Amino acid sequence: MIFRDKEALSPSYLPRDIRYREEQIDRLSRHLLTGRGPSLALAVGRKGTGKTLVCKKLLEDLPAKTSPFTLYLDCRTNRSPGDIARALHSAAIPYEPLKGHSTQALFLKALEATKDADGSMIVLDHADIPLRLHPTSAFLLSRTEAWPTSPNPTLIAIVIEDLDILSHLDSRASSTLRRNMIDFPSYSERELRRIVQQRVNDSFRKKAISTEALKACTEAATRQHANVRYALDLLRHAGERAERRDALVVEPSDIEHSISETPSAFSIHDLGLLDDHERMILLSLTHLLTKQRSYVTTGQLENEYREQCRRLSRPTIRHTTLWKSVKTLEILRIIKTEISGRGFRGRTTLIHPNFPSPQPIRTQLMRLL
Ligand SMILES: Nc1ncnc2c1ncn2[C@@H]1O[C@H](COP(=O)(O)OP(=O)(O)OP(=O)(O)O)[C@@H](O)[C@H]1O
Ligand SMILES: [Mg+2]
Repeated sequence: MIFRDKEALSPSYLPRDIRYREEQIDRLSRHLLTGRGPSLALAVGRKGTGKTLVCKKLLEDLPAKTSPFTLYLDCRTNRSPGDIARALHSAAIPYEPLKGHSTQALFLKALEATKDADGSMIVLDHADIPLRLHPTSAFLLSRTEAWPTSPNPTLIAIVIEDLDILSHLDSRASSTLRRNMIDFPSYSERELRRIVQQRVNDSFRKKAISTEALKACTEAATRQHANVRYALDLLRHAGERAERRDALVVEPSDIEHSISETPSAFSIHDLGLLDDHERMILLSLTHLLTKQRSYVTTGQLENEYREQCRRLSRPTIRHTTLWKSVKTLEILRIIKTEISGRGFRGRTTLIHPNFPSPQPIRTQLMRLL
């Protein structure tokens, strides 16, 4: 037996202590404790720096008050301004029909309805996606002057990975979003080690992981900008491997194997958030990659996609929609794209995988499709 509680490695687990994020918690909760009316906060940080954890902790702590309104929206599944406004409206006014209202009107009506709550917190996590795919979401989220005033505090926390998004927005939206920015800096190696050690204590049996294996894991995660989620994924994968060979201890070789299979920029479980077309496109990419290629052109990918859809009797999407899906996969950091340089006829986009091995991705996609 390797694990004591494997769930403690999952991103949804709330650890007892959240270290090195006191300032971020303090700044986000300040408005909830003393503010009036709605206010906007922009949480920015690289992957696995505790943004979601901190927001979920604040959402959980709010019910200590009498009747707060809390909502966590993952923009990986609520990708357009319409999706966001509808989800907010349905949560705030569940019995009122959505039809016949503009996105903006739904959004404002929902905010109006939360006015009577004893404090509200709305988290729009992974907002990079709507902000990149639908520029109008910036308009929806930044027209704060139109929001209803209220004696009770409402905090809308917009969580993004990359500040670079703001440079693509119009300057008014960008400056409004920047006004209350909360930075989540990457952890140092020492901080990462301490956070991971604490999680190891919660999830592994005593002495079930060798010191060298743990060191190999934290070093690998430090190289990926100290991504804690990646470190925990490595540990889970390595622990499962050790279990399969009936070992009592996770060894460095388990971690090495785990590194060769585990994506750092996303979690295999995140593939569940993709729609069927995106899954088919990714499946086609992994199929081409197993034929010893390190990248594919868009033409090759499109042909393979149509072929895979035909084989699995799946409906296909048009060229432009396919492009949008490829872009979404890039925003989700599952693939990388670049414009071809010399050696190619004309200009074409090259698609690279952002994962070390296609096989685990294929296996998970086949499970989902
Ligand atoms: N300071 C911390 N203390 C304890 N656990 C942490 C801390 N920071 C991150 N974690 C853990 O690391 C994992 C990743 O954190 P989280 O999901 O909050 O990252 P994120 O910044 O939202 O990343 P992404 O941009 O990929 O969504 C979670 O399991 C979380 O519990
Ligand atoms: Mg997150």
